[in-house]
Amino acid sequence: MDTQYLEVNDENIEQATDLAAKLLKSGKLIGLPTETVYGLAANALNEAAVKEIFRVKGRPQDNPIIVHICDMIMLRSVVREIPDSASELARAFWPGPFTMIFKKSERINDTVTCGMDTVAVRMPSNPVAAKVIEKAGVPVAAPSANLSGKPSPTTARHVLDDLHGKIPLILDAGACRYGVESTVISLVGDVPTILRPGFITPQEIQKILPDAVVSDAVLREVGAGEKVLSPGMKYKHYAPRADVVIVKGTLEQFAKYAEEHAAGNAYAMCFNGEGESISIPSVSYGKKDDPDEQARKLFSVLRMLDTAGATTVFARCPSEQGVSLAVLNRLIRAAGFKVVQL
Ligand code: TXA
Ligand code: MG
Repeated sequence: MDTQYLEVNDENIEQATDLAAKLLKSGKLIGLPTETVYGLAANALNEAAVKEIFRVKGRPQDNPIIVHICDMIMLRSVVREIPDSASELARAFWPGPFTMIFKKSERINDTVTCGMDTVAVRMPSNPVAAKVIEKAGVPVAAPSANLSGKPSPTTARHVLDDLHGKIPLILDAGACRYGVESTVISLVGDVPTILRPGFITPQEIQKILPDAVVSDAVLREVGAGEKVLSPGMKYKHYAPRADVVIVKGTLEQFAKYAEEHAAGNAYAMCFNGEGESISIPSVSYGKKDDPDEQARKLFSVLRMLDTAGATTVFARCPSEQGVSLAVLNRLIRAAGFKVVQL
């Protein structure tokens, strides 16, 4: 299959989004920019198209997909009920990098939810994404547009690298504004539970829902066979080909550890300005005190390490506060939960 790669600008945005919407309506998949990461989008109501998402990504059959909407009318069509808490969170965080889990309506098929009776819903703020959904007139199922297990795509080039020849269209609307996937919160249990941290932080959510909690699975490995609220938590994820190890400690301790343990094509993944203190090659993923920048750069740095042929990567550890929690949540999965505490 030929993949059309289309850069979207002010002049062609209507044409480009018309084409994307037309493809979605005819059951095709497209690479769609959003403010978090690029999505692999299909008409959520077309079961064959959703099955194709699983096939193209090589996605595990038990990992459900987020449904993207453009307004509250569309929300009503995909969920059974809208709790007051959801209305309040929607007022605060939609459109934006924020996903809520509801009881699903009959319109949403089992392929999207992997047989669960809940559905994850997000209203993206990226203008291209919003326009495509509105023009398609249907809810849009879209996981991140990477091959399963790979770092999520934060540029259209990343999508092309993974899915060239497998989908008919990729829209390029530049680098993603946030760079980590949406915050996911479940509103179906007794306690609102944050299942995946993102740019919208637990602190911001707790200002609206003081009883919201963060799932303990966010920073730990989930055992085989363990029942989890969000199947996505189970998988090693976001991983480059290299062996990644998170090394906690001072910069001096980190530098010494990396030097002593460097084998093969080893790289340090550090914060801006730290490279001079480290004797092995290094790449920076942002300023130490700028979690937003770390979030924006994380996935492209992980992909760059693959391109550089890294075999071992020692990563400096982000904090657990605010947006950093999202960075750490992704990095710890990229590392397959290997953390060294010095
Ligand atoms: O920012 C994002 O959320 C991006 C963009 C494209 O919108 N999408 C994304 O999708 O990250 P994906 O498939 O890579 O991650 C979806 C996560 C998975 O961890 C999945 O297990 C979880 O959401 N999820 C989806 N539906 C769920 C449900 N009904 N209950 C619990 N978890 C669910
Ligand atoms: Mg993903």
